Amino acid sequence: MLQKSNDYIPFGVPDFSDKEIEAVVRVIKSGWVGMGPETIAFEHDLEKYCNARNIVTVNSCTSALHLSLIVNNIKPGDEVICPSFTWCSTANVVKYIGAKVIFCDINPHTYCADVDTIMDNVTTKTKAVIPVHMGGLAADIDKIQSELPESCKIIEDAAHALGSSYNNGESVGSSDNLTCFSFYANKNLSTADGGAIAVSDSKIADRLRSLRLHGLSSDAWERFVNPNNFTSDMIELGYKMNYTDLQAALGRVQLRRQSEFQKRRFEIASYYFCRLQKLNKNIKLQKNILDASHSRHLYLVELPLETLTKSRNQIIMDMRKENIGASVHYKPVHQMPYYMHFSQKSLPITEYIANRIMTLPIGAHMTLDDAKNVMDSFERNLI
Ligand SMILES: Cc1ncc(COP(=O)(O)O)c(C=O)c1O
Repeated sequence: MLQKSNDYIPFGVPDFSDKEIEAVVRVIKSGWVGMGPETIAFEHDLEKYCNARNIVTVNSCTSALHLSLIVNNIKPGDEVICPSFTWCSTANVVKYIGAKVIFCDINPHTYCADVDTIMDNVTTKTKAVIPVHMGGLAADIDKIQSELPESCKIIEDAAHALGSSYNNGESVGSSDNLTCFSFYANKNLSTADGGAIAVSDSKIADRLRSLRLHGLSSDAWERFVNPNNFTSDMIELGYKMNYTDLQAALGRVQLRRQSEFQKRRFEIASYYFCRLQKLNKNIKLQKNILDASHSRHLYLVELPLETLTKSRNQIIMDMRKENIGASVHYKPVHQMPYYMHFSQKSLPITEYIANRIMTLPIGAHMTLDDAKNVMDSFERNLI
């Protein structure tokens, strides 16, 4: 049980039913809880769901992004562009491999990096770009791709975007770019922790499978089922970033429940939208928040600070006192003490948005009564 009062409405918690519990118990009883047949089945289920040619699961989206840079041959000294308006993982993975993080600004309506904010930062050293599908709204990948030099790779940070689609209507995960998903506790599909890479090239998928497990030529399940294959060769220096069948058991049920989850997220988003329209206080919302292409992982509201007496942080603290888990996504990464050490760059749109943005709770864990309580509290505190 959550530590807070039973009335507390967190901004995001997993919705696990008896079906998830039964699935985990089934895998525990099977005797194989590490990476094995359930993981393979989950990968195939995900391939169908997002129309990806190959899915490789890993232990987090951070690992997915890290391995994606490695298989794209990004080396120390190369420059990698990413927005600062994101979770720190997007930038940290670039540092892990010794490359240089170049932060770019965002579009004021989508909160995603766009072709202009990216192209402003491209140099001869740029080897990759990591656009973030912020809150579940896909960045305009086609447009970015059309202007980037061909040698420059795109790695999509789709931590928020399982179930989202691009402008052309195709599912996020179906492009030719390595696309990284998160199954962390508060995500639309949760397996407590975990991640996946959608990858169109089967040879790269095989390399990712090896890299996630020490760089071995085969995993434990392959050696278990094949009587002639009882040792494994380490081919290159890999990592311990594999997924497990316990998580996959959760994931397979969560995936089957996605339309139920999406329906609830849409109902809550529509309710908030109507209440905010009526409120008529000039609250700005992310573009396309009610569009079918948006996974609605985050419900972001931009406050008209000039017209308010309370600060954004005070509004959040006061809502929390009223048991509403309002939050902020995100404090910009370039303003984190660690990154300020490397650069004092200013990103005007990111800084403007980040100062006035806040996140209202949304998720399948919420009832419509919860949504009403959120809006009542928001209205009370918007002074
Ligand atoms: C935009 C973004 N990218 C990457 C990550 C990292 O995901 P994980 O916690 O699965 O490593 C997150 C996590 O919240 C995120 O929000």
